[in-house]
Amino acid sequence: MTRLSFYKDKKVFITGHTGFKGTWLCHILLQAGAEITGFALEPPTTPSLFLQTKCAHNIHSITGDIRDRVALAKAVVNARPDIIFHLAAQPIVRLSYSKPVETYETNVMGTVHILEALRQSSSTLSFVNITTDKVYENREWPWGYRENETLCGFDPYSNSKSCSELVTYSYRNSFFSDEKSPAISTARSGNVIGGGDYAPDRIIPDCIRAAHNGAEIVLRNPHSIRPYQHVLECLSGYLLLAEKQYDNKTIEGAYNFGPDEESCVTTGKLAELFCTAWGSGVSMRVQGDNGPHEANFLKLDCSKAKTVLDWKTNWNIKTAIEKTVEFAKAATDTEQQICIDQQIKLYFDNCRC
Ligand SMILES: NC(=O)c1ccc[n+]([C@@H]2O[C@H](COP(=O)([O-])OP(=O)(O)OC[C@H]3O[C@@H](n4cnc5c(N)ncnc54)[C@H](O)[C@@H]3O)[C@@H](O)[C@H]2O)c1
Repeated sequence: MTRLSFYKDKKVFITGHTGFKGTWLCHILLQAGAEITGFALEPPTTPSLFLQTKCAHNIHSITGDIRDRVALAKAVVNARPDIIFHLAAQPIVRLSYSKPVETYETNVMGTVHILEALRQSSSTLSFVNITTDKVYENREWPWGYRENETLCGFDPYSNSKSCSELVTYSYRNSFFSDEKSPAISTARSGNVIGGGDYAPDRIIPDCIRAAHNGAEIVLRNPHSIRPYQHVLECLSGYLLLAEKQYDNKTIEGAYNFGPDEESCVTTGKLAELFCTAWGSGVSMRVQGDNGPHEANFLKLDCSKAKTVLDWKTNWNIKTAIEKTVEFAKAATDTEQQICIDQQIKLYFDNCRC
């Protein structure tokens, strides 16, 4: 794949490689010919995309906890990576209300630990910390947030990711400021959908579970608008950022990677698109559950990624849902593995960036 030729034979270290985004990232990089070391806890869900696609067979997969600073540093130093993507996190908003301490420990101290490991790694030139669109102080604005806006997530998850941004900012200024240091960036993307996401409390996985069980889809918050995008959209952004800053430290910083305006739809519209893509036998109803606070209106302004990196979106929300349904209907692990590989190839062969 020409678009990813930069990654051929590159050594890439990924934290959180057993999760949803991490597994997709591994498969993209495997197609590109990279040598991958992953560091993460066991897969967070059952079933798990990581196990279904037998990802561990093709990479060096280390089971470890990012709260264990020594083990993480040892893994990084031994791997001698050219590039590091930091994805390991406790990423569920609702869980962060019941487990705030663990969420902060993992998401904030985990970031400190990977940056400490980076200080010991003489080989690495490019580091990308994956945070989220939820890092911004949400003012329920109708327009998109820019990278220079106030960071102050509301709930423990979002707030821990704002803290992770601040930690990265401080480490960049304090320890990686000279021109020979690795380039260090953070990437903020929207709500991601795609095949193999089995997380609880996420709308599309909930829709798929309902469709498979012949149950009704229950919508908690049908009017909320979020920047939904296919997982390949944001991953293409992370990969482009890591590549471009590899030999150009001047572009390091914070970058938003979100969908175009037309794909920022309400949760209700998203579920409607899902029902159409799934076909007969699925329906939905609205039922508020007095759950904890979640933002209603959230969009990202991605002008910086488009201008500085020449990043472009490729799949709109309709295509993103169709591709997710295509994966969900694949009957066996082998079919799912083939489906993912084909979708990656299709995406990057036609990638506009
Ligand atoms: N999925 C989304 O919609 C979305 C949106 C924006 C940002 N993100 C961010 O992207 C990243 C990946 O999200 P995901 O959806 O793949 O989540 P996921 O839950 O599927 O994967 C999380 C990964 O982190 C690992 N992990 C968790 N705690 C750990 C610990 N203490 N030590 C080592 N590994 C640990 C898990 O084992 C897993 O590999 C996260 O940083 C998340 O905040 C996700």
